[in-house]
Amino acid sequence: MKQLENKKTLYSGVQPSGNITIGNYIGAIRQFTLLSDQYNCLFCVVDLHALTVRQIPAELRRNTLELFALYIAAGLDPQKNIIYCQSHVPEHAELTWILNCFTYMGELSRMTQFKDKSARNQDNLNAGLFTYPVLMASDILLYQTSLVPVGEDQRQHLEITRDIAERFNNIYGNVFVVPEAYIPKETSKILSLSDPLRKMSKSEPDGAVFLLDNADDIRRKIRRAVTDSDAEIRIDIENKPGVSNLLQIYSAFSGESTDEAIGRFEGQGYGQLKKAVSDAVIAGVEPIQKRYQELIADKGMLHQQMMNNAERARQIAARTLRKVYKKVGLYQG
Ligand code: TYM
Repeated sequence: MKQLENKKTLYSGVQPSGNITIGNYIGAIRQFTLLSDQYNCLFCVVDLHALTVRQIPAELRRNTLELFALYIAAGLDPQKNIIYCQSHVPEHAELTWILNCFTYMGELSRMTQFKDKSARNQDNLNAGLFTYPVLMASDILLYQTSLVPVGEDQRQHLEITRDIAERFNNIYGNVFVVPEAYIPKETSKILSLSDPLRKMSKSEPDGAVFLLDNADDIRRKIRRAVTDSDAEIRIDIENKPGVSNLLQIYSAFSGESTDEAIGRFEGQGYGQLKKAVSDAVIAGVEPIQKRYQELIADKGMLHQQMMNNAERARQIAARTLRKVYKKVGLYQG
């Protein structure tokens, strides 16, 4: 990557838990493509985070390479950006230990995602689930990141990252850049099609459209999307979450603003809206799927790119970790 001195750093990550949804795409990956020219960017396949829930090893390995390919297929160039796998840069785990010692049990126990996940994983309430935000803070802080584009569900994790960075800086001087979250309102919480009071999530496949779904599945899922009974097409998240969500999905894939879309659908019924949303989603995912199929057919090439990118990430990460070790007093010879 040409590290242009005047560009700030943007960092984000996605878990390789299979089945990337259009929520992940609209809230995160598409935002990355829109911002990537203005920043020095790193995009991570966060495989260590995925281990907080039990994984089938062969599937995790496959999902990791597939997510790497999807980033590229979505339009992120692995030469211009650093796209890499978290476990290939051991500095993430190393910084996590140090930052664990600067993070309080009380603040971690207030994380709503921890509370939700522990309710759903009663049989595997492991310590990794609890310290998950510290690993995420390490991801971000290792690269002196200024901007972190994420969906609404990650807001609290960004807040704790800032708190940890500020706490550390207050003791040791300006070691870390304190990052800002980038969470645009319209795209940061795509809702489930089957239950529009919840977010679209890969763990609830009924309400989710996946980036690699075929056209028939996309049409069927969107046709069944829960709406309401007043038949008016407008944005009103409180009272009409299902319809508002469809408009937001339409807007993200068509490139029209939601106001333009509301004008376009004036006087039309929900059936027509759903058809237009399906058409827009299919037209948007088709080129990504085509590129993805080409990329995944050449695993050797993907592997090579992944290794090269890990090396580039490591150079930056090692610099920050060295500084942290020195500051906290670890003997480095
Ligand atoms: P993950 O893998 O759950 O989700 C990846 C990204 O997709 C966003 N997202 C959504 N956005 C809009 N609507 C939705 N329904 C929706 N569902 C998911 C998420 O907010 C996220 O931005 N902990 C993170 C990954 C991570 C990370 C990082 C992110 C690890 N280290 C460092 C940023 C920086 C996670 O589990 O995302």
